[in-house]
Amino acid sequence: MTATEMKITLGPLSLIPPGEGRSFEIAGERIAVFRTRGGRLFATQADCPHRNGPLADGLVGGSTVICPLHGWKFDLSTGAAAPASCTLKTYSVSLTDQEQLVLTLPVPEP
Ligand code: FES
Repeated sequence: MTATEMKITLGPLSLIPPGEGRSFEIAGERIAVFRTRGGRLFATQADCPHRNGPLADGLVGGSTVICPLHGWKFDLSTGAAAPASCTLKTYSVSLTDQEQLVLTLPVPEP
């Protein structure tokens, strides 16, 4: 059986203040990780599908982020956008007992 996903430790939870996002470059992909004020974690593609706005610098509220460039709003859990009908790639991010952020990525097809 071959692995279909890989886990990557990003660092301590304290890298991301509550209500903010940070972007990371992993295996050639830019991924934004968000920590809501309510303590939930989300990870999406880092660049807005409209014109590549830096989503990690957007306004995080509840489980949404608003792109800082033109105000498109994305649901962080599903990636769904408003007003556009595009969708962000989403990833699984979790926290270890030692408060380390761990991202789970699909392994690319060979
Ligand atoms: S670049 Fe994100 S809304 Fe335009």
